[in-house]
Amino acid sequence: MNTHAIWGWLACCAIGVIGSGMALAAERDPLKPRVPDSELAAAQKLPNPVASSADTIAKGKALFEGKGTCFKCHGLKGTGDGPLSKNLKPSPRSFVNGEWQKVRTDGEMFWVIKNGSPGTGMVSLIPSDINDEEAWTIIHYVRTLK
Ligand code: HEC
Repeated sequence: MNTHAIWGWLACCAIGVIGSGMALAAERDPLKPRVPDSELAAAQKLPNPVASSADTIAKGKALFEGKGTCFKCHGLKGTGDGPLSKNLKPSPRSFVNGEWQKVRTDGEMFWVIKNGSPGTGMVSLIPSDINDEEAWTIIHYVRTLK
């Protein structure tokens, strides 16, 4: 191998490494609100009408892993690495992020499940996949993932 070939091989390798790193898209400012300013205060105050209990959390888990389809992007453990996550930019929220859990209210999560996060893979899932009550139920389960 002459020096040119060696440099070519090194460059190719480096691009390969950087390229594979880029395949894992980053989350976009997880702590920044997703609800538009005009609706934020109302969404933040919206209480979860479903009481949290062991039963609701179990129902929420079944919906998250079933007809709610959440796991496909957010992953079974909520880490944001579900089977459909690879091509999504920004990547799905990791629900295990305690800081994000602290700043986000149930009402804001509900708003996103209902309206989606414009310009991202997070599309509206109500009423196409789940109803309001099911979304509130799933939120109780999401709270357990942190
Ligand atoms: C097709 C992929 C996909 C599916 C299915 C999906 N999500 Fe998401 N979700 C995303 C992506 C991508 C983001 C990040 C959006 C952003 O950064 O604004 C996200 C963000 C979120 C957020 C965070 C919003 C915020 O305020 O930070 C919540 C909550 C959420 N999803 C809940 C759910 C729930 C609950 C389900 C199932 C009912 C679900 N998602 C299904 C892709 C998905």
